[in-house]
Amino acid sequence: MAGGTRKRIVVMDKLPTLPSVAIEAIRLMEGEQSSFESIADLLRNDQVLAGRVLHYANSAHVGTRSKVTSISQAISLLGFNAVRSIILSVSIFDCFSGKFTHHRDKLLNFWLHSIGVAVTSEILAQRLGFQVPEEAHIAGLIHDLGKLVNYIQYPAEFERICEEIDQSGVFSVQGNIPLEIEKSVLGFSHIDSGQELADCWRLPESLSRVMWLHHQPVYETILPDVANLPSIVRFADVLCVTHNIGSSYFLCTGVSCHEHFHFALENLMLYHQFTPADISAIMTEVAEKVGSVGRILGFWDEDVYRRQISVANVSLGSISMNLEQNNRQLQETNRVCGATCDMVRKLRPGLTLPAASRIILEAVQKAFGIKHCLCMIRDDRRHMYIGQYFDGKRFMDIEAPIQLLELQAVSREAAPCEIASEALERLKKSTFELSKGAVLESGVIDMVAGSQFLATFFVADRGSSGSEERILGELVADFSNHLELREGSLIGLR
Ligand SMILES: [Fe+2]
Ligand SMILES: [Fe+2]
Repeated sequence: MAGGTRKRIVVMDKLPTLPSVAIEAIRLMEGEQSSFESIADLLRNDQVLAGRVLHYANSAHVGTRSKVTSISQAISLLGFNAVRSIILSVSIFDCFSGKFTHHRDKLLNFWLHSIGVAVTSEILAQRLGFQVPEEAHIAGLIHDLGKLVNYIQYPAEFERICEEIDQSGVFSVQGNIPLEIEKSVLGFSHIDSGQELADCWRLPESLSRVMWLHHQPVYETILPDVANLPSIVRFADVLCVTHNIGSSYFLCTGVSCHEHFHFALENLMLYHQFTPADISAIMTEVAEKVGSVGRILGFWDEDVYRRQISVANVSLGSISMNLEQNNRQLQETNRVCGATCDMVRKLRPGLTLPAASRIILEAVQKAFGIKHCLCMIRDDRRHMYIGQYFDGKRFMDIEAPIQLLELQAVSREAAPCEIASEALERLKKSTFELSKGAVLESGVIDMVAGSQFLATFFVADRGSSGSEERILGELVADFSNHLELREGSLIGLR
């Protein structure tokens, strides 16, 4: 399907046509001239649809006391965008349902998924600061319509796709992801046919992009811009699939949630700093809203819904347990990487050794939140270790002899503080081991064995008293050009 000669995969005459009121509702997203009144007029000509909108307005969920009897009243009560969303839900539901001769009962699973993603997209859009969250609702509602198109036009192949998804196993990491199964059976997937449907219905570009981009992985925080609608639908899709809200592969008999959805959920939660409690609150709201829409469309069954959710919760539990730990690790890694980059940038040729030591100490503090630390750099010209010590308040210059015998002669008491004393002991040990050329179990020594031992620092834990167990790590920098520090000279940090 490359380039301008793309072969049509969808037989256009077999595609369902949207009622004019729905087309008008979609046009409003493009900012074309249309009004509150024009929609109300169109609804007045479609009594069935108008009845459903009024039913929604009067539903218990909306919580109005007086009965809503006119479309204008409904629009002023629910808001124009909400009425537009309900018009689209009902219209799309009706026009596709008419094309189903078999599996009508299973189709409900598809609508449950679509409405679930619509409602979840809208809630996420509100939380992330989108200006018109109802656009996300519409985007979520239509995102998987390519699957219905495929079912209508290629029913045998669609059945085979669902069978293969069933066989690939629940929560399997080995099995192919459903999109790949679609491609292997049909030669294309629902994102291709969805895009053609969007062309046929002349949907606005923002919606057309959702049809073919909603399976793109999201690598960063979703910003509140209409260009990011596919990402928000992706997030909502991942939430609904992992929570088992309906099923877009509606002929499947088992629960089909590929492991990659769980990975995606973990990542999206990390990017947005959503806790398991946040997700739980979002999904409670989703359940309420899906119930409202489902009742209007006439397929809601509270018990079935609860049963489905409870199956999904089993898998979510393990995500929640890993999530906080992963979150902590990610934050720590970011902090260490940030501090290390900063340090490497500042370490430049021509620095004095105490100045270089200070830069290293500042990076170590930033990376690990440490109060007491010491950095010593070997100065071969002066036959000294030169460095600085930071006691949590101020930096102090420290020097120690380079020769092992002289170093060993320095008593612990000569050190300005407990931690410096401990560091001196470590320095003696390292120098002794290196002088014997031994390759020791210490990672640091491994790194410098066979190279020149040029600098090391010792890091003490918060409030350290200097005991050896509290030493967190050592850093070795290759300052092989003696006093000339070389940029990018960092070898390792452990
Ligand atoms: Fe999809
Ligand atoms: Fe989906």
